[in-house]
Amino acid sequence: MDRILVNGGRVLKGEIPISGSKNAALPILAATILCRGAVTLKNVPMIRDITSMVAVLRTLGAEVRVERKENRVTVNTERIVRPEAPYELVKTMRASILVLGPLVATLGRGRVSLPGGCAIGTRPIDIHLAGLEALGAEITLEHGYVIAESRRLRGGYFRLPFPSVGATENLVCAAALASGRTILENAAREPEIVDLADFINAQGGAISGAGTERIEIEGVGSLAPREYSVMPDRIEAGTFLVAGAITGGRIAVRPMRRVWLASFLDTLDQAGVPVAVEDAEERITVSPPYRFRPVEVRTAVFPGFPTDLQAQMMVLSVLTEGESVYHETIFENRFMHVAELRRMGAHIEIVGKSAHVRGVPFLSGAEVMASDLRASAALVLAGLIARGRTTVTRVYHIDRGYERFEEKLAAVGADILRDRDAANEARMGS
Ligand code: UD1
Repeated sequence: MDRILVNGGRVLKGEIPISGSKNAALPILAATILCRGAVTLKNVPMIRDITSMVAVLRTLGAEVRVERKENRVTVNTERIVRPEAPYELVKTMRASILVLGPLVATLGRGRVSLPGGCAIGTRPIDIHLAGLEALGAEITLEHGYVIAESRRLRGGYFRLPFPSVGATENLVCAAALASGRTILENAAREPEIVDLADFINAQGGAISGAGTERIEIEGVGSLAPREYSVMPDRIEAGTFLVAGAITGGRIAVRPMRRVWLASFLDTLDQAGVPVAVEDAEERITVSPPYRFRPVEVRTAVFPGFPTDLQAQMMVLSVLTEGESVYHETIFENRFMHVAELRRMGAHIEIVGKSAHVRGVPFLSGAEVMASDLRASAALVLAGLIARGRTTVTRVYHIDRGYERFEEKLAAVGADILRDRDAANEARMGS
């Protein structure tokens, strides 16, 4: 039960190294199931969600070597024989569902616990299942588990009713070893889908069109293991750019590319934050704004504004004179940071799926509770600009998705530390 303590008021300055992408590493780890042999992945962030996916792979029978300091994970899939992801693991991380497609493609059967309720909405998996059916899998549900079975998947046509990221990933994996050609339409276009397709192609797969709404997958007989380096995390980069902007500092993130964050960077620009992109260096820098301006943000599928940066961006609006409006169109219940920001003095009203933020002159530090991954990051950001001390509890949410979060912020001047003794203190009743 660690907590993070932040004293507000420091101006951040410097360059922050960006870790490997959580949302690319998770599906790629699941996709290692498709290759027979030992696959080494580089630039894997050492965060809790990766530990959870490694636990899932080990339960299936994979031998996994994690080299934390090197950010390297090697998965040997030769002994994967038990195609089952149990509830104890899936409940800690929804993305466990990503092993379903690879399992049915290789072992002819996958049995994965239904993810169940999730802090940011119900998040069903109906699109994953309808897509697998279109490739010839038989789907049954029993005792809280979903079972997908097929002796050999066959290529097919499937139009996703909504461009779900996870469903696109599951289907790309399932189709990679199916017989014949698969066409996915209305597919998700997120950069992490491109990274997954690049990974599978590097192992001998034949996927084209990733990054567009139409993906074509020519099934191949087998995939041979090759080393692969995971792309950088655009959500981590966006989070640190907001940290720089709100503290009136100059923060660079690297490596990062404009195309991965275009709509977020445009919104920063509209908010009055000067953004410099050096594509050759893969560096993006924010400088102190002359004056912040209110913004209207609507989360959307890529290339729209990422829902995973909505909470962090909102912190920028909290002190901006005028009214900013945030529309959340991807998930239900994704305003859980709002109640805590209010406790710090923010003026935010929720009307349906929109949050109306009216700028206040200052925030005051408070004890706040992390509720989900991105909401928690937003609370730390708020702590950076609040008067006095902010204590963020339940930081295991942050540890799910950010590697050395407080260390990276401290390195550019934040007055922040992790209090590992929180549990002892609580036990002592002090
Ligand atoms: C992924 C990301 C997450 C990000 C999200 C949207 C990972 C590990 N997680 O989550 O960080 O916030 O994309 O960019 O990559 N839906 C259905 N039926 C389905 C699947 C999804 O109705 O079968 C709905 C969900 O309930 C949700 C919306 O579609 O409202 C988006 O979900 P999806 O794109 O699948 O997100 P994830 O893959 O879960």
